[in-house]
This record gives sequence, C-alpha cells and structure tokens, in this order.
Amino acid sequence: MKLTILGGGGFRVPLVYGALLTDHAEGRVTEVVLHDLDDSRLYAVARVLDEQAAGVPDAPKVTATTDLDEALRGADFIFSAIRVGGLEGRAHDERVALAEGVLGQETVGAGGIAYGLRTVPVAVDIARRVARLAPDAWLINFTNPAGLVTEAMSRHLGDRVIGICDSPVGLGRRIARVLGANPREAWIDYVGLNHLGWVRGLRVAGRDELPRLLADPDLLGSFEEGKLFGVDWLQSLGAIPNEYLHYYYFNREAVRAYQQAEKTRGAFLADQQARFYEEMKRPDAAALTAWDRTRAEREATYMSENRETAGAGERDADDLSGGYEKVALALMRAIARDERTTLILNVRNQGTLSVLDSDAVIEVPCLVDANGAHPVAVAPLPDHATGLVCAVKAVEREVLAAAESHSRATAVKAFALHPLVDSVNVARRLVEGYTDVHPGLAYLD
Ligand code: G6P
Ligand code: MN
Repeated sequence: MKLTILGGGGFRVPLVYGALLTDHAEGRVTEVVLHDLDDSRLYAVARVLDEQAAGVPDAPKVTATTDLDEALRGADFIFSAIRVGGLEGRAHDERVALAEGVLGQETVGAGGIAYGLRTVPVAVDIARRVARLAPDAWLINFTNPAGLVTEAMSRHLGDRVIGICDSPVGLGRRIARVLGANPREAWIDYVGLNHLGWVRGLRVAGRDELPRLLADPDLLGSFEEGKLFGVDWLQSLGAIPNEYLHYYYFNREAVRAYQQAEKTRGAFLADQQARFYEEMKRPDAAALTAWDRTRAEREATYMSENRETAGAGERDADDLSGGYEKVALALMRAIARDERTTLILNVRNQGTLSVLDSDAVIEVPCLVDANGAHPVAVAPLPDHATGLVCAVKAVEREVLAAAESHSRATAVKAFALHPLVDSVNVARRLVEGYTDVHPGLAYLD
C-alpha cells in the first residue's frame, strides 16, 4: 500500500508517520512518498522519519521527491496537507485583516477567504492530476480551509476526495468525557460546515445524554467549550458549538485579542518552525529531538490562557495525541480494509442538509467502508445555524467562482458577503491588501 503525502516537508508529517508506525496489520501502508516544493524541508522531515523508524522492523519505506506527477503515480492514498504561501502567508492573512479591524484567522472570516483564494487553484491543479494519474486513489484532504478545498477538489474527483478535521472528534470526546461516557461508545450528533458545526446530541445506548450536560451549570462550565462560550450562552443555544464558532459569537473580543497580541498565531508558528528547519540544515543535528522539542513548544501554546494568540484553543494531552493523524489513519484503514466505522468527515451533502444542494461539502458523521464515506441522515439545523451555514457556503461558492474566473470583483463579493466583514469598502481594501502581499493572488484580474 502506497501513501503519498503532499506537503511532505510539513511540520506535522512525523505525526502521521508516527501513527503509521503503530499499524502492523495486514494491508497497512508499506511505502510513503513525501512530496514538497521545497527540497530542504523534505530533507528535514525525512531525517525525522528516519529516526522515528529506527528499531521498527516493518516501518514503511520513505522516499521524497519534488516531482508532483511522480509522487502521484501508483498511489493508493494521497494525503493533501499543503500550505500555499507557507506560514508567512498565514501571518499576512492575519495582519491584513486586522489592519481593517476584521478577523484574520487561518480558516474563519477574511483570513480564511484569503487563504482559500490562493489555495483553491493549487488544489484544483492537484485534483486534475490525480484524476489523470491515480484515478483509483483516495484523496484525504487536510489542507485548510478544509471544507472549501475539499469541495473544490470534489468537482474533479467526486466522492474520492474526503476532507478531515480533528476538531469535531475532539469536541465529541470532551463532551463524552465530561458526561462520564466512553467516547468510543457515544454517537455524536454533529453537523455543519468545517469549523462551523454544532453538537446537538450525544447518545449512549440509545439515550441522549446532552440534555443532562446542558442542565448542569457546574458540568457545563468544567470543560473547554463551557469556559469558552459561557454556560448561559450554551444553554441558550441548546447545543455545543465547535470552538471556531467563538470567532462568530464573540467576534469583537476575538478581533481585539488578536490586535493586542504581541504576535499573531501565524507569525509565532512561522518563527518557531523556521528555527526548526534552520537547525535541520546542520548535518549533526539530532532530528527527532529537535522536532519533538518544537512540537512540545507548539502544543504548550494550546494550553495558554489566551486562546486568540494561542490559536485553536485549550486542549488536553489526550486530544493532542488523538489529533488529525488518527482520524486520517482510521479513515484510511476503514477504506482499505473495509473496517466499517463512523467518522465525522467533510463530504458532499447529497441531501443530508436539505437547505444546501447535493454537491455542497458539509461536515457530518459518515459511515465509512471500502466504498468510501457515506453521510448519515441528521436532524435539520435550527434556523440560526442554517443561516450561518448558508451564508458561509455562499461565500465559499464565490471563492470557488473567483478562483475559476480570476475575477477580482467576484473576490470582493466573497469578502463582502461574509458575516464577519462589515462593509463592502472593507472587502475592497482587503482584496487590495491581500493582492499586494500574496504572489499567489496575482491571478486576480
Ligand atoms: C486545529 C484545526 C486545524 C488547524 C489547527 C491549527 O487542529 O482543526 O484545521 O489547522 O488547529 O493549529 P495551529 O497549531 O497551526 O494553530
Ligand atoms: Mn480543522
């Protein structure tokens, strides 16, 4: 079984390889191909993987290449984890938006739109090549903004592209734990778009346990989302939102915290990772030790008091070790070995949410087997959630249209229609600001 990792020089690749190393069963991945545009990043990560594999007799063989077509040929699975414009690009996304007084988060609001606009053309090019060179491969997309990028790729790969995120599973696990339930035995009723979903129920042995949590202020206030959103607001909603909804429900505070931060999340990570890749240029550096130290520093920031500067919020040790690489591996195993399972994934709607058309990619529990991921029927969202989902999906569609037509006016429309961008004039200046700093947006006419 051959797995190709696009963005193979990325900092999180050793997490994926570490997960692969725990799999000794028949049908496991035996060959890993790393692809990246940057040779020195590939070299750095390959060194880490090499040290990880030491002493593991059945460790997957690793090769690295900067030739995309060569990387894709013969792949059974392709993980796409690219970052167009790098972490410097992420820092620009944040800064340009903040200068206009709006949110520049990696995936939400203006920042997410800018990131989407420069990523979609690259993702579409990859999807076209996969369709030509590896038509039977499954593409697992982690590239953010994951829902939008998965939808762009699905126009060329249909249901062979599946988007993943670690946030719904982490949320479900935290809720189960606070309720004293076993996360593995709980059915999580979650739906929405990526980074824009709500847990409406958590059923154990046929009984919904969520009302018990919502009725108990002490319990509710004791876990991450309870602290983040506040007990009263969760009770008013009657659901537990994905942590990224904090940027909607508490937008003003989030923008202010970003503005006051000494460094934005992207700038922090850009500096931190640059140091790691620099260190890896020394032939005598201990690769795995350096990587592990950098990873620990990064993870420590998740526990920080200030979630806006820390990034995606407070997480506990279990969440950190059960992240996206575990979702990716579980998905790949279910498909490759027909090990049926349920995972919350980004797939085409196919009638699941009746307010969206069938090609709209949504985030929803899916049954996964050798035939892929099949969304499970869920109850409709309440009107306030439907409103947000429809508004943000409409924005995503404008991003896809702008990437296809190269129309600057369409890009302006994408920003202007976003619920977190409060003026068409702001949208116009955002497009100017972003095209000034991002070479990846030079295609806009
Ligand atoms: C979560 C999200 C990812 C996102 C990441 C950011 O895991 O689900 O989509 O990329 O947080 O983490 P970072 O450490 O890069 O700020
Ligand atoms: Mn995510």
